[in-house]
Amino acid sequence: MKNSLQHLAIIMDGNGRWATNRGLARNKGHEEGALTVRRVTEYCANHDTIETLTLYAFSTENWNRPAIEVKFIMALIDRYLQSELDIYMSRNVRFETIGDVSKFSKSLIKRIEITKETTKNNNKLTQILALNYGGRNEIVRAVNSLIEAKMEVNEPNIGEALDTPYKDIDLAIRTSGEHRISNFLLWQLSYSELVFTDTLWPDFSNDELSQIIDIYQKKNRRFGGL
Ligand code: FPP
Repeated sequence: MKNSLQHLAIIMDGNGRWATNRGLARNKGHEEGALTVRRVTEYCANHDTIETLTLYAFSTENWNRPAIEVKFIMALIDRYLQSELDIYMSRNVRFETIGDVSKFSKSLIKRIEITKETTKNNNKLTQILALNYGGRNEIVRAVNSLIEAKMEVNEPNIGEALDTPYKDIDLAIRTSGEHRISNFLLWQLSYSELVFTDTLWPDFSNDELSQIIDIYQKKNRRFGGL
């Protein structure tokens, strides 16, 4: 029996190195990375079983980058959402976010809200962008919301109070050769299959994704059992 793949998560890493290797400005790497986001989203929207694609687009630690790069990534996400709306609609993709976007500019917050609202009834694939997201921060917020609601702090309740309720991750991929989780979806990754590839995010192809998925589907997932 093949493993079913419903929730795929990706840590998109290596944009900067991709650009530097070519003597280009780092921002060029982010631009190319946005094209990979589009390709991979289309692949997942065409896949039989994938329901959710979660992409780590901006971590709580990414604010530590030079202000000019942060500004560029913000503007790129804004442009991407604007140009992607037609694709979300034609491919039946719902757009969602996790993380605290309240620190973003008013115009980007508005763009995020409009995109969510316009795509809310689409149901082939949900693309979740993790924006100003940190896994520890998500767990702390979830526990605090239970305490505030005077609910018992237990696994099912924490699971439901997270930004991504009921969505355990089946397969997580990190590009660019780093073998780290970097505070991504700590709770939801508990039993995920993890794949690390040396490919830099702008070079990550749908062929490679397809090969990774084939291998995942043949794996024996025991979830701690035998
Ligand atoms: C990692 O590469 C990438 C980021 C921190 C930003 C992610 C942004 C994108 C993939 C493009 C825009 C996103 C969307 C949704 C349109 P890095 O800069 O850490 O690369 P490096 O490790 O080689 O320096």
